[in-house]
Formats: sequence, C-alpha cells, structure tokens
Amino acid sequence: MLKVIVCGATGYTGFELIKLLLKHPEVEISAISAKIEKPERISDIFPELKGILDMHCDEMKIQDMIKTGGRIAFLALPHRVSMEFAPHFLEKGIKVIDLSADFRLKDTSAYEKYYGQGHKCKEYLATSVYGLPELYNDKIKGAKLIANPGCYPTAAILSLAPLISKKAGDIKELIIDAKTGVTGAGRKANLAFNFAEVAENMWAYKIGTHQHAPEIDQELSALAGQNIKVLFVPHLVPVKRGILTTAYVKIKKCPAVSELIKLYKDFYKSAPFVRVYDEGKFPQTKDVYYSNFCDIGITIAEGRIVIVGCIDNLIKGASGQAVQNMNIMCGFKETQGLL
Ligand SMILES: NC(=O)c1ccc[n+]([C@@H]2O[C@H](COP(=O)([O-])OP(=O)(O)OC[C@H]3O[C@@H](n4cnc5c(N)ncnc54)[C@H](OP(=O)(O)O)[C@@H]3O)[C@@H](O)[C@H]2O)c1
Repeated sequence: MLKVIVCGATGYTGFELIKLLLKHPEVEISAISAKIEKPERISDIFPELKGILDMHCDEMKIQDMIKTGGRIAFLALPHRVSMEFAPHFLEKGIKVIDLSADFRLKDTSAYEKYYGQGHKCKEYLATSVYGLPELYNDKIKGAKLIANPGCYPTAAILSLAPLISKKAGDIKELIIDAKTGVTGAGRKANLAFNFAEVAENMWAYKIGTHQHAPEIDQELSALAGQNIKVLFVPHLVPVKRGILTTAYVKIKKCPAVSELIKLYKDFYKSAPFVRVYDEGKFPQTKDVYYSNFCDIGITIAEGRIVIVGCIDNLIKGASGQAVQNMNIMCGFKETQGLL
C-alpha cells in the first residue's frame, strides 16, 4: 500500500481527498494535518468519517508526518501557504501534489500580481508539472511536484484545448463566462458567502482581473504555440458545488458543428474523464456532481463557436484530479478510485 499525507485536511478539498483516498484500493492515509490549534479526531470534525477514519488531525508538524512513511504529500492548503511547506517534503524525496496555485504560474511576475506576494521558491517552478492529465500525461508520470490545476481553468482549458490546438491561428476573440458554486471559495468563514448573502443571489466578480485568467492564458498559449489572451468573467451562483464555463469563440472561418464535435471526440479519445456530447446536447452541473468527469457540449450560434464545459469543482476541479495525478505518477490505473 502506498502511504500518503493530506495537509489541509479540514478544508473542503482536503475532506474530499480523504474520502476518495479511503476508497482507493492501493492507498493508505498515514497522516493528516491543518492549521488546527490542538490535535482533534478528523471524525469529530467531519462526523461522516466516524468509524471510518478516526485518526487525529494535527498542526503541520512536518517531521512527524514524514516519519509516518508517506511517499506522496497532498497539499490542500491556501496559496502562499503551500510554498512554505512543499520544499520540506521534496527535500526528503516525498512527492508533492499541490492543490493551491503556488506552482502553476511559470511567470513569477504574474504570480506576484495576482497572488499579492513574491514567490518564495522559484527554483521549483522549472520542474513543477501542470497536472492536467488530458494534456500532460507523460510529464506527470515522472513528476516530483504537481501543480494541480485550478477549478475554473480545468473546465475552461479542457473546453478549449482541441480547438486551440488545431485552429489557434484563426481565432479572433475568446471570451469565457463562468459560474461556480460556493464551495469554490473554501470552508473558512467569510461574510460574503453566508447563506443569507448567497441564497437567491448571483454576482459577477473580478472581471478581467481573476487570478485564474493568467493560468488559462499560460496553458492555452503553450498549446497554441502563440500568445493567447482570454476575457474571463466569473460568477458566483447559489449552489454548493459545480462549475459551468461557456466559451464564446469568434473565428475566421467557422467549421461545421459536426466537424468540431469530431475534432473534440478524437482529441479526447484516450481521456477517460472527458465526455464530449453529441450535437444538440449540452452538459449540466448535475451530470458531473461528485464525479471526476468534465462534460463538454459544442454548437455554433451567430457566427461564434460556443462551448459549454461542466465539472464538479471539488472533484475534477481539485481532489479527484489530484488522485488522477497520483494514479499516473504511481503507475496505477488512471481511473483507480475514481470510477
Ligand atoms: N474549493 C475549491 O473548489 C478548490 C478547487 C481547486 C483548487 N482549490 C485550492 O485548493 C486549496 C484548498 O482549498 P479549500 O477550498 O479546500 O480551502 P479551505 O476549505 O479553506 O481549506 C484550507 C485548509 O488549509 C488549512 N490551512 C490554512 N492555513 C494554513 C496554514 N497556515 N498552515 C496549515 N494549514 C493551513 C486549513 O486549516 P484550518 O481549517 O485548521 O484553518 C484547511 O484545512 C486552495 O489553495 C484552493 O485555492 C480549491
């Protein structure tokens, strides 16, 4: 059995990770931690785990966690916190799958601009691998440090990758309109996400300034082999989980919808977690609820290609994708513990 460590176990993605790892036949959780003041049973924090995982969750005592024999550390920690801890594991030969944004952006000036602080361990950025298995499966196999993608970028990049990889030169305009459920903001207390603020309400935020925009630009540009810039407009909607992105693409010469759908199905023919819908059909968030799937529907309207992508932000957008990355790194079946 592979021993693994979960840091940030008391958060939303940490909890989802624990539940996925407990069901994984090749894995055993050896330590869990958070910012917790005194050790507490994880099953007292999440009673759903009573009798299933009664292990104590402690503060981040790195040496104690390493002594448990964990070979992979999942960091379900806030950005700027992950980069404080990742090097300690890596120096001891423990592989890291980081769910935060700390190792995603290769451009440190973009990191500083969008995350409000300079990067503290730039030396790891050259070798960190962007953990989107549908694009980087081979690199993930040999990685020591995985930068697990953001939730919005997962849906947006998967929705656009086939088109960008074949038609980047023809694209004239690229807009991504996106919606997220409230768990996307994490479990920490925040007035803006109180029930009374969120219920029966919706709002757009960080229009053109969201931290996931440079991540989407980085990955689409790498695919295109040229500079790509998207207009990214996120919204918060009153559901607990789920992300729906709608991409609007203005292109020089619009192919037929059937040709586009064939392009997408061919591109993802070896990807077990991407489902491309047939013509006239579009995904809803409930189709991917609690699953590691990204579902995609495509059409053409008013001269624009319109691509709808759906994921569960906590699974394909975070913890499920982290387990998918672990599977690839460890030579397990890619779908193990996820289907
Ligand atoms: N939520 C999503 O949909 C989603 C999707 C993709 C990626 N992500 C990313 O994944 C990471 C975790 O997100 P989340 O939604 O799970 O956040 P969260 O619910 O706020 O949980 C954060 C976890 O980190 C712990 N923590 C906070 N500061 C710490 C510190 N200084 N030292 C040690 N532990 C600390 C917290 O412990 P306490 O509870 O004890 O404070 C908690 O366990 C974030 O970087 C986020 O951007 C989230």
